[in-house]
Amino acid sequence: MADHQNNLQNHSDKTSPLIEARGVRKTYSFGAVPVEVLSGADLIVHPGEWVAVLGSSGSGKSTLLHLLGGLDRPDKNGGEICFDGQPISVSHGKRLDGYRNKDIGFVFQFYHLLPELSVFENAMLPGMVGNWLTNRSEARKSASKLLDSFGLSHRLAHRPGQLSGGERQRVAIARALVNSPRVLLADEPTGNLDAKTGEGILDLLAQRHANGLTLIMVTHDPAVAARATRVVKLANGCVVQSSASE
Ligand SMILES: Nc1ncnc2c1ncn2[C@@H]1O[C@H](COP(=O)(O)OP(=O)(O)O)[C@@H](O)[C@H]1O
Ligand SMILES: [Mg+2]
Repeated sequence: MADHQNNLQNHSDKTSPLIEARGVRKTYSFGAVPVEVLSGADLIVHPGEWVAVLGSSGSGKSTLLHLLGGLDRPDKNGGEICFDGQPISVSHGKRLDGYRNKDIGFVFQFYHLLPELSVFENAMLPGMVGNWLTNRSEARKSASKLLDSFGLSHRLAHRPGQLSGGERQRVAIARALVNSPRVLLADEPTGNLDAKTGEGILDLLAQRHANGLTLIMVTHDPAVAARATRVVKLANGCVVQSSASE
């Protein structure tokens, strides 16, 4: 709890947090041996922030991001994740599916596009699930606008396998944004790309951030983390404060 308070005090923004991890614990079992990857991690992110979570390989970055995105759960009695002040497990009475599909967008290091669908179908897919967009034409419009702004309007009918890594990641970001989520969670979004292509992806994220999108990005690369407006470090299962200039 003390760490949580420090976390709050270190932050000058007076608005309510958008997304929070409070005392989050996560343990994996390797056979009979339990390994605690997160040991009471606290993270508070306010609307409009771009937070980088920097940590070495195996430090638990993906684990933390999956928990923040509701893709996995903390241990029993292992803290909670809140969105807009509510634990996501109850999330305003909505199902967790709604949180994953509408409130947040998730970008993976290895894109996770569906190979048998076209670029356009991949991007509009979340808009077709669960009636979050009122109809198919809205999903089409949103996907089309995003892909166009990402310079992909000439690749709509292609399959992901026909695209470069940078193009695939742009499709994955369009898919993550198609339902206009309030926060984008990105897991090493440039980790599989060469430096120049990675810069292009970070420029694209910076542009969305400038337009008000809240971003949480995990990375092992300090140069990538430096693009964020705030950098925290994940070490020994906990989040420690850092600065963007480190
Ligand atoms: N589903 C899982 N089952 C068992 N162990 C896991 C699982 N996911 C991650 N781990 C382990 O947890 C630790 C942290 O993993 P991860 O969160 O992927 O780290 P990072 O993303 O920082 O590289 C690693 O030791 C990894 O092997
Ligand atoms: Mg990882």
